[in-house]
Amino acid sequence: MATIRPASLTPFKPPVFLNSTYGFESVEANEAAGALGERLYAREYNPTTEILEKRLANLEGAEAGLVAASGMAAFGTLILLLLSQGDELVVHKTLYANTLAMVEQAVPRFGIKVVAVDLSKASNLEDAITDRTRLVFFETPVNPLSRILDIAAIAERAHARDVKVAVDSTFASPALQRPLEHGADIVIHSLTKYINGHGDALGGAILGDAKTHPRGHATGSVGGALGCRTAAALMG
Ligand SMILES: Cc1ncc(COP(=O)(O)O)c(C=O)c1O
Repeated sequence: MATIRPASLTPFKPPVFLNSTYGFESVEANEAAGALGERLYAREYNPTTEILEKRLANLEGAEAGLVAASGMAAFGTLILLLLSQGDELVVHKTLYANTLAMVEQAVPRFGIKVVAVDLSKASNLEDAITDRTRLVFFETPVNPLSRILDIAAIAERAHARDVKVAVDSTFASPALQRPLEHGADIVIHSLTKYINGHGDALGGAILGDAKTHPRGHATGSVGGALGCRTAAALMG
């Protein structure tokens, strides 16, 4: 009978790194790694969540990815890291209820003006964008009625005014729509929905080009990190 040698087996599931932090040979080695800007803590770096980030980036054709504890954590991270006091955010008038609550009630408290318009006509952007506009954000398909917005037409008008575009593509999933290919700068997902597919985990993701993507200080400073067990479940 043939012998199965474990060393020759390729694990079907990615390994789960159950660490909150990492060990070093010495205090000096730890300090040297810190000085090089290495991420030394699981909120900043975990190999399992990184595998999920790379897989999602591949699916969306993105250069960089960041996963978060939920779709709302991903949206909050996006806002906190891309916008500042005095900036303006243009959104489509219809959004998922909690996202709408956040842009109506929370975002303005930080001195960010939110301008809601009907983006089913991309030309409505012309009057909505000002010199202070930094980001246009919308879902497509739109929750709850699955209306479809024209990513390319919106991105073309926004870019003509030097404004970035972020699309919540949760309801399509990358199987049906890849917003970056239509000109969006960032795509976000509630992984809780179709990307998980089993109804047993919360998660979120921000994916985009390396320059626009808020990867740099995101997990460290905002903190809505996705747990490694959930990352593994999302890849299951
Ligand atoms: C389009 C859309 N975006 C974001 C979210 C928020 O995602 P989560 O529930 O993972 O926080 C939802 C949730 O239903 C949604 O439908």
